[in-house]
Amino acid sequence: MTFLYHGLEARGAVWADIFAARVPQLPFWRWGIDPVDPAAVRYLAAWNAPADFIAHFPNLEVLFSVGAGIDQLPLAALPPQVRVVRMVEQGIITGMAEYVAMACLALHRDLPFFITEQRAGRWTYRHTRLAAESRVGVMGLGELGKAALAMLAPLGFPLSGWSRSAHHIEGVTCFSGAGGLGAFLAQVDILICLLPLTPETRGILCRETFAMMPRGSALVNAGRGGHLVAEDLIAALDSGQLRAAMLDVTDPEPLPEGHAIYHHPAVFLTPHVAAETRHGSAGEVLADNVLRLLAGEPLLGEVDRTRGY
Ligand code: NAP
Ligand code: GLV
Repeated sequence: MTFLYHGLEARGAVWADIFAARVPQLPFWRWGIDPVDPAAVRYLAAWNAPADFIAHFPNLEVLFSVGAGIDQLPLAALPPQVRVVRMVEQGIITGMAEYVAMACLALHRDLPFFITEQRAGRWTYRHTRLAAESRVGVMGLGELGKAALAMLAPLGFPLSGWSRSAHHIEGVTCFSGAGGLGAFLAQVDILICLLPLTPETRGILCRETFAMMPRGSALVNAGRGGHLVAEDLIAALDSGQLRAAMLDVTDPEPLPEGHAIYHHPAVFLTPHVAAETRHGSAGEVLADNVLRLLAGEPLLGEVDRTRGY
């Protein structure tokens, strides 16, 4: 019985040391470095991997995602009995909360507009508002959505959130379900997407959604590129329905050379760096989870495969 890691070599080296210290009873193999007996592999950790890679391991029991999301894994190729576990670790959570706070402040204070004016050599005045006048709404009230809201709260933004099931978060007006989406969007000046990518949420950042937001509002997508219909965003920006957008994720990644998003003056783009898995803290979380697994205890971050997140 072994644990196999597939991914960045530097992370594998850190995790091998953590496993040697914390889970010495379980051999930790690194794909491409250690000799691997596929039949012995019960647990696998990967960020993404080709579908035919999964087929190598007939006795696989648990697939651990190296990241918070799981949609990038070849789940369709995974037998139904294999458990899937996402990464719930403080490095990702804090990184995302920082990114969202940065993006909200940048959009709230009209940075895309002022940068465009500076680049054009213009000194252009535009009235600014205080945070109390910019309503921020977060789609997805999971680990990342809640952490982002907690970081935004002291800045003074009026906050709201939207999720599948009903939530109660102090200081946050909560909406839920398809029935609550319109009311949520109607009162959001800066919309943050921190949803998982599932069949229900794919393409949710589209023309119909933008039309339900107040004219001149802004968008931050740090969920997945598949949430956004890029051409609808460009059209909403060009018509003034949206004023600006900050994107950390795109579909595909990287975007092809020359894509309109690279050059649109109202879009800020970062290359999927909002929240990175930190080798050390993630290795400890993974080791804790494997110890729970070996003890027959519930796992942190186990995905409901029927729900898709
Ligand atoms: P999570 O804890 O599983 O939370 C997911 C949230 O989304 C939950 O509140 C859930 O509602 C809500 N949700 C799911 N489907 C929905 C639907 N159909 N309608 C409304 N709400 C729905 O996930 P997380 O750890 O916060 O991570 C969220 C996502 O962030 C990841 O899946 C990944 O795609 C993305 N991410 C991006 C980066 C980056 O660097 N850009 C880094 C890490 C993660 P309930 O609470 O009702 O279940
Ligand atoms: C990054 O995108 C993650 O899912 O952790």
